[in-house]
Amino acid sequence: MTKIGIICGSLRKNALSGAAARAAVGLMPDGVQPVTLPSFGDLPIYNQDIQDQGMPDTVNAYAEAVAAVDAVLFVTPEYNWSVPGGLKNAIDWLSRLSPHPLDGKPAAIWSVSPGLLGGARVHEGLRHVLHSQGMIIMAKPEVQIAGAKGKLDVDLGTVTQDDTRAFLASHLSTFAQFCAGRS
Ligand code: FNR
Repeated sequence: MTKIGIICGSLRKNALSGAAARAAVGLMPDGVQPVTLPSFGDLPIYNQDIQDQGMPDTVNAYAEAVAAVDAVLFVTPEYNWSVPGGLKNAIDWLSRLSPHPLDGKPAAIWSVSPGLLGGARVHEGLRHVLHSQGMIIMAKPEVQIAGAKGKLDVDLGTVTQDDTRAFLASHLSTFAQFCAGRS
């Protein structure tokens, strides 16, 4: 069974992307085991001096969780037209490990925003970074959850709009097939 890890790019308690990430668990197709990966909020800001003193336990624990999945779904907001700093920081830490927990794994991206563009601009930036990590990116179909306040319930972690729910479920089925084709 393919294990798809879900990484949420926001640390916020009432995050829209957190709601979408929770909803993704219930929308995964048969044959997939969704794994909610831990928050990267405890990782220090990357500094090679810290690494030189020994990889922090928080980084090792995070990397172990990421290493245990076969593929990753990134569910993230866009910050200033790009990748949220915390998410980039987590990837920077993972990139210092060998074996690299992301290398060679399929990846898909959902961007989430209350705005009309749906965080469209984070895709290019995040794909760029993930590509550098050796991830195999499913570029299409793209998922931008625009106007997310009207489509997600942050208390329940559910998708409230039928069309959006169906589209996200179909995207996950496509991603599962994409992953299967690469195993
Ligand atoms: C934002 N927001 C935002 N939205 C967007 O569509 N494009 C952007 O470039 C930005 N930039 C940005 C920078 C910073 C530092 C913050 C805090 C916010 C708004 C953002 O989409 C909104 O706050 C979301 O609700 C954040 O995502 P979560 O935490 O709800 O998942």
